[in-house]
This record gives sequence, structure tokens and C-alpha cells, in this order.
Amino acid sequence: MTEDPDVVSRRIAHESLAEDDPTGWFERLYSAAVDGQAVVPWDRGSAHVLLTDWVETARPDGTGKTAVIVGAGTGWDAELIADRGYDTTAFDISPTAIDTAKRNHPDSKAQYEVADLLNPPAEWHRAFDLVVEIYTVQALPIVLQADAIKHVGDLVRAGGTLLVIAAARDDDVADEDVEGPPWPLTRAAIESFTTDDLRLIQLDRTPSPTDPTIHRWRAEYLRD
Ligand SMILES: C[S@@+](CC[C@H](N)C(=O)[O-])C[C@H]1O[C@@H](n2cnc3c(N)ncnc32)[C@H](O)[C@@H]1O
Repeated sequence: MTEDPDVVSRRIAHESLAEDDPTGWFERLYSAAVDGQAVVPWDRGSAHVLLTDWVETARPDGTGKTAVIVGAGTGWDAELIADRGYDTTAFDISPTAIDTAKRNHPDSKAQYEVADLLNPPAEWHRAFDLVVEIYTVQALPIVLQADAIKHVGDLVRAGGTLLVIAAARDDDVADEDVEGPPWPLTRAAIESFTTDDLRLIQLDRTPSPTDPTIHRWRAEYLRD
């Protein structure tokens, strides 16, 4: 590969977006990465540091509980949650991401599946004790985010927890001034995950350790 990987991934994304196919670029990018033609920029080779920190602090016991990892990519976050004992479902819209996750984690206790957050299986409605959403909503154009946010919240069962990790955008930055992907989430977007019975119980905004000009939300919600 001679081109800068960030340039390649942006080109693939912009081609899909220009074709009015806002989610098609994920499969194109993951399969180009398998062919050595691109690098998946968010593939860290480990769980997200803010998820790891939450697990180390909250020390959740997943025994007898279910978890779902939204837009699970190549599986590192799912493995961390499955290792805490949760019966873990990890899904992604990209079949190649799911194949790569299975290849990365051949002894996994998680179930990896291809599924679309914007059209999830009916049996997932309010089915999970823990829902983990990291960087999927922000990877979708702003016009799709409200629908995606609603579908994420709908996965949480009564008494369950939703954890959202996303890049933060200041509320005074207008939608049209954001040249995604990604399209980071405003505080208003983070608050819009709440419903009458899904409450925001903790919200942190912290700088990225690699680039302090970028901030990340970690939001925790509880369904009554
Ligand atoms: C920016 S990546 C983040 C991946 C992973 N959550 C992480 O933090 O490393 C967004 C992921 O969401 C997946 N994705 C995008 N739209 C989706 C949808 N509608 N349903 C399911 N997965 C989706 C992409 O294929 C990609 O793996």
C-alpha cells in the first residue's frame, strides 16, 4: 500500500456517501484491509480504553446476563465484555468485519453476527442487560443519527445499562460545518438517548490521550 491509509479510508467513505449508500463503505473498507489495500483506522487491536476503565471501575458480573456490542468491528470490545461472563452478542453491518472478528478470536465466547442497527432483529427489542455502543452512531450521517440512537436505546431491557462512547462536538458547531465521517455527537445528541424510562446517570467528557484537542463522551444510562 503506497497511499496514506487515512486518505484511502476517507476516499472509500466519500465514494459510498456520493452513491447515497451511507453504510456501504464499511464493508468496502474492511475488505480492502483484508486485501492489504487499506487500514481500518479505528481497529485498535484492544478494547477501547474508556470501556476498559469502566469495566475495571464498575467490575460488572455478567453471569446470567446478556450483552450486545453495537457496530462491533473486529471484536475487541466484545471479547472484554464476554470475558466478564455476559452472554454476548456482537454485531456489525459488515460481513468482513464479522469474519475478521471470528478469525481474531477463534476461542471466543461471544456470538458474532451480521446485522443492521437501523433494522435490527425484532427479538433484540429490550433484550439486553448491557448495551455497548462505541463510535457507530457518529459514523453515520447526521440525518440518520436520531434513528440510530432510538434503535440503540431500544436494545436495553428493564434494569439494564447502556454505555455510549463517542467523540464530542461542541453544541455551537452547526451540523453543516461538520465534514464527516465521523460526525461527533453534541451534548444534545448524548441527551437524546434518554427516554421516559432510560435515564442518563453518568456523563464524562475527557480529552483523547493521543490528541488533547479531541474530547470523548462516556455516557452511562439505566433503564428503570
Ligand atoms: C467507527 S467504527 C467503530 C467500530 C467499533 N465499535 C470500535 O469502536 O472500534 C463503526 C462500526 O459500525 C459499523 N456499522 C456502521 N453502520 C452500522 C449499522 N447500521 N449497523 C451495524 N453496524 C454498523 C461499521 O461497520 C463499523 O464497524
